[in-house]
Amino acid sequence: MPIIAPSLLSANFLQLQDDCDLLNQSEADWFHLDVMDGSFVPNISFGIPVIAQIRKATQKVCDVHLMIQHPELLTEAFHKAGADILTVHYEACVHLHRNIQQIKGLGMKAGVAINPHTPVQLLKPILPDIDLVCVMSVNPGFGGQQFIPGTLAKIRELHQLIQETGSSALIEIDGGVTLENAAAIIAAGAHVLVAGNTVFKSADPVATIALLKRI
Ligand code: DX5
Ligand code: ZN
Repeated sequence: MPIIAPSLLSANFLQLQDDCDLLNQSEADWFHLDVMDGSFVPNISFGIPVIAQIRKATQKVCDVHLMIQHPELLTEAFHKAGADILTVHYEACVHLHRNIQQIKGLGMKAGVAINPHTPVQLLKPILPDIDLVCVMSVNPGFGGQQFIPGTLAKIRELHQLIQETGSSALIEIDGGVTLENAAAIIAAGAHVLVAGNTVFKSADPVATIALLKRI
């Protein structure tokens, strides 16, 4: 069964406690928390103080996706705020290996995200060191966008690369995941489905999570 990681970017920020309770009562495995800086991506979402509050509202894994420049400056702060998994963007890290060591040194799991134009082969040297690859299936910055179909081929290629390198990294797919395309994403080799709009804009988010879990 896939790991389901609803993205709180699509939650109701005026009733965040309610949406946290909803996820706690659901079969969601992780809370996916999208942090944007207005520089790496053309949008700003939420940051450390909000994540610290969400941390108090759940026992589930907090999967923090940093869409920011210079993540190394805030790694410790995100750790203190309660991140369990910290994912940085390949495109934002000049010293990616050092960033990964820093994240793991603090006891968190380390993830690397790649934009739609970034080839999976670039991850080969780093795969044995990381716990998760987040393959962006939309251009990061906004919820509710359309899944880019070429992502399926990238997932298959990454799946093979992970096996070749003996890595135990999980493959997470982020952006435009729906009840319609989830089966193809899993069949291609993904382990984790992030879903924002599909969950929070549905009539019954708990039931939608249950459906995604059973795909
Ligand atoms: C996009 C974020 C995603 C986004 C997914 O930049 O990283 O996590 O919230 O939202 P949906 O599922 O609506 O595409
Ligand atoms: Zn995300």
